[in-house]
Amino acid sequence: MAEKTLMELAKEVRGNAHAPYSGFKVGAALRSASGRVHLGVNVENAAYPEGTCAEAGAIAAMIAAGDTEIAEIAVVGDAPAPVTPCGGCRQKIAEFAPKGTTVTMGTTDGAELVATIEELIPYAFAKAQMEGG
Ligand code: THU
Repeated sequence: MAEKTLMELAKEVRGNAHAPYSGFKVGAALRSASGRVHLGVNVENAAYPEGTCAEAGAIAAMIAAGDTEIAEIAVVGDAPAPVTPCGGCRQKIAEFAPKGTTVTMGTTDGAELVATIEELIPYAFAKAQMEGG
């Protein structure tokens, strides 16, 4: 049996999202440079600003597992068009992903949009900008 794609894994884990306020469940799956897969879902909170996005959850799982580089990432929600990461999550992904890293965005119905992280966040602020100043 073929290995599941990141999008398939993101769709599966999406079911565990905690989104009672927006009703919008999101799943994320990333493959790190080590080859391991890390999953995340959005986790909302009654104190709304305390909620966290699915991508942030997957990145936290990756770091906790000891991996440090994103090789590819998929994000999915039940939406009319592929779910694109929010601005904050683009910055979070860029922290750990080389510029050419593929971000696959999807809907539960199977529509997909593929872009590199650099396309999603050109001119991202990065550590290099704090060096040699
Ligand atoms: N959300 C994500 O988890 N990832 C995205 O890429 C877009 C938005 C979540 C945040 C919030 O829990 C809900 O979707 C509605 O904005």
